[in-house]
This record gives sequence, structure tokens and C-alpha cells, in this order.
Amino acid sequence: MKVIPGREKSARLNARAVRRIPGGVNSNVRLDAPRVFFERGQGAWLWDVDGNDYVDYLLGQGPAFLGHAPEPVLQAVEAASRKGMVYGAQHPLEVEAAERLCELLGWAEMVRLGSTGTEMVQAALRLARAATGREQFVRFEGHYHGWLDNVLIAPQPGPAAPASAGQLPEALADSIVLPWNDLDLVAETLEQRGDEICAVLMEPAMLNAGAVAPDPGYLGGVREVCRRTGVLLIFDEVITGFRLAAGGAAERFGVAPDLAVYGKAMAGGWPVAALAGPAALMERFGSKEVTHAGTLNANVMASAATVATLELLLTDPPYARIEEIGAKLMAELGELAASASLPLRIQGFPAAFHASFGEPGDARTYRDLQALDAARYARLAQRLFEEGVWVAARGIWYVSAAHGERELEITLERAAAALEGA
Ligand SMILES: Cc1ncc(COP(=O)(O)O)c(C=O)c1O
Repeated sequence: MKVIPGREKSARLNARAVRRIPGGVNSNVRLDAPRVFFERGQGAWLWDVDGNDYVDYLLGQGPAFLGHAPEPVLQAVEAASRKGMVYGAQHPLEVEAAERLCELLGWAEMVRLGSTGTEMVQAALRLARAATGREQFVRFEGHYHGWLDNVLIAPQPGPAAPASAGQLPEALADSIVLPWNDLDLVAETLEQRGDEICAVLMEPAMLNAGAVAPDPGYLGGVREVCRRTGVLLIFDEVITGFRLAAGGAAERFGVAPDLAVYGKAMAGGWPVAALAGPAALMERFGSKEVTHAGTLNANVMASAATVATLELLLTDPPYARIEEIGAKLMAELGELAASASLPLRIQGFPAAFHASFGEPGDARTYRDLQALDAARYARLAQRLFEEGVWVAARGIWYVSAAHGERELEITLERAAAALEGA
């Protein structure tokens, strides 16, 4: 591995890591990222073990929406955990977390907590199958719903195919994969095969593999056709939740799902995820008809962090600030690239957008995104890292409540250097 000057301690740690941790990383998503080891994060900043600083636009893949180490969340977690961390039984903070979540979301009456988005997507699918007695579900090209056998699909458009060795191909037999943003196709599929389909599962704004907003009327149209055919609409709001608005994409686009999965931004960086829905569906867990379990579900720290984060989002909403800083960043990065005659394309939301190289114009589907020059962008991401801007090689930029004018200014200086020769 090439040692970048000023990253010698990281290189030594990496040499140790690869001996004991496969690939040196604990998630395959990190395999293509620079092997830097961080020792501190504060606000919008990260510091590596060699003392280099970075303006952070990865936010831990999204959870650090309030910035790193947000004081109110730290205090709440510390105070609560001093009285015990996990009871495997009920405690007041989990009730408060559930009440606040339902209040904030508006459309949901009950929640179950877990630790990861992956597992809560599974709970949503199981519940949808139990409620409808149907097994198939519709999903969309390029939408990510976790790494388990029945949802992990290879990136090429078309029928669901395994993305990993060891993945059971038959676990994907129940998936109907459609291109995103084609309402007629969803309507046709549900009208023809609705009695076999339990749910339509989607990122309500596509953000994992590229930022593509729903076309105007698309979510409302899917909502309507789901209602008409008795198919449940499941929003995977793991990225959009608490980020595109306090009530996530459902609030931002004014369309309520039947079930929704949350994670990442909901607890200031603490590992928490949730499934939310109406009592008529969710009570199937309470009646023992549908199983959902987990030793660490709603543990004290997870519950305390959720309550403190939701409190912050309600009392000091960061949304207007993030929209302003994020929109400036999108515009000014675009201008920097244009002045260097580079075809950098930026698309998405101020709180979460994607950058890549390619022809100008907005992508509407995953197929459009696949035509872009991802390899060239990955090289730029490496250069940004070397200059002190931490971004994902796959193109997403997350903006937190802690990013301000100073971070913006420094980012643009560093990006200008990185763009030279990109
Ligand atoms: C839209 C979406 N759904 C589900 C997941 C899985 O969540 P987790 O990584 O917490 O298991 C992710 C993770 O990136 C995601 O982006």
C-alpha cells in the first residue's frame, strides 16, 4: 500500500489491521476508502492519528448528522448509562423514545427499535408478508436495503442477482426489481400481480447509490396504486429520515407510507434503527403473530441518544442552516469545477448530494447514474482526502448541522487544490 506523506502512523496501523481484520476493515463498504485511522471527531471535523485534519462530508456514512460528539447527546448517554446499559427489560427512556418518534413523524402510531437499518428492513418485510399473506415485493434498481441475502442485489439493472459469493440466489426469488421513477410500470405490475405482492419497498429519495429525487407526483402515484391493490408501501428512510426534514422524506414530499424504516441520523451517531407504522400493523409484533427480537434493542444508550437527538431536532431545527450551507457548497463546487473546465456533475439535496463526472443533465434513474464516470470521481475523492476533505469514493456528500461558513471556505480552498489535474 502506498504511504501518503504525513500518514505514516495510519500506514503502520493498517499493516497491523490487515493481519487481524479481513481487508483491514469491519465493513466491506470501507474496502475502497483510503486506509486512514481517525482518533477524534468534533463538529464537522475529523483528525487522523498523524494529526491531519479533515472537513468531514461522510459523517460516518450518515449518522453524524448533528456533527461529531454532539454535547447534549453525549451528556444524555453518559447520564443514562451510569445507571446501567442494558436490562433486557423495559425502562422509561424507550417509552419516551417511542412517543417522541411517533409525535415527530405524525403518520406513525407505534415503533420498534433495533440497532441497524438492515435488520429493521427485514422486520418490515416480514410484517408486510404476515399482514397481506403475499410473498413477493417490488423494489428498485440502485436502491440499497442492507446486506442480507434477500435484499442485496448486484448493481447491474435487470432481474435481482446475488452481489456476493455465498448469497442464496433463491432468497432473491421474491423480488421484483423495477427501474426508479416509472409510475406506469409500478401501476402495471401491481395491477397485474398485486395479489402476489406484499409491499413496494423504496428509498423515497434515492440516495445510497446516487442522489435521485422522486419525480413530481411519483410518490403520491405509487401511494395511490398501493392503496388500490392492497400492497403496503414501505419507505426505507435510513438515509432520508430526520435529514431531508424532521419527518424525513414522508414530510418533505407529503406522502405517508404504511411502514418506514429509520436509522443513521436518528440518534446523533449512536447505533439505533426503528420500524414505524400504524398500530393495526405493528400490533402483530405485540400479539406474537410476527417475531421481532434482539438482545440490544432499545438499550439504555440507544434510547437516551434517540430522545436527546429528537429533542435537539425539535428545539433547534438545523434544517434551514443545512439547506443554506449545503446549497452554497453544491453551487460553489460546481463553479470551481466549471472554471477548471471539468465536467463535475452535482445532484441531490443540500443535506445529501452526489458528485460524479459526466455529461450535464439530471439523472432520473439508476441507469442514468451508471453512465457517469465513477472511476474518475473516485480519483478525485482520493485527491480530496489528500487535501483534507473526507468524502466517500462513491460520490455522496453529507452536510451536518455543524458545517458552517468556515468549513465551507476551507472545503472550497482544499477542493480547488484537489481539482487541479482531476
Ligand atoms: C437506504 C438504506 N437502507 C438500509 C441501510 C442499511 O443500514 P445499516 O447499514 O444500518 O444496516 C442503508 C445503509 O447504508 C441504507 O443506506
